[in-house]
Amino acid sequence: MFELSSDELMDVGMGSLFHDYGKVYVPKELLDKPGRLTATEFQEVKKHPVYGFSTLKDLGIFTPVALGIVKHHHEKENGSGYPDGLSSYDIARSSKITAIADVFSALTTTRSYRQALSKESALEIMYGEMDGSFDLQYLNSFRDSLN
Ligand SMILES: [Fe+2]
Repeated sequence: MFELSSDELMDVGMGSLFHDYGKVYVPKELLDKPGRLTATEFQEVKKHPVYGFSTLKDLGIFTPVALGIVKHHHEKENGSGYPDGLSSYDIARSSKITAIADVFSALTTTRSYRQALSKESALEIMYGEMDGSFDLQYLNSFRDSLN
């Protein structure tokens, strides 16, 4: 188990609330597209962490930790994420925590292209076909917190 200080918990809350803010700059038809995105379309969607980071940084009211969450919530443990291709120790734990919550939320919510999955099915995917995406220490803690 691990604990966050109250400051870091506040940063995780703020960063998580605004993590996808940059999507306001991504064409809505891409975000709502029912089918698979083309490679070009996906490249556009992948810009949202940087769009959000830049815009919120300029406001001057977010901490570096919260801004890091906005920029790095799609980084993966194995380095295959975006926008910076960070891996493992180079990803802040606040971003790792948000990444887990973000994917779990996406999988357990009905989308334009599929019904919501159960929490068990979502975890099966996160431990299975998404192996290498998440820090197992935090994923295990998250799983245990659901019971
Ligand atoms: Fe995102």
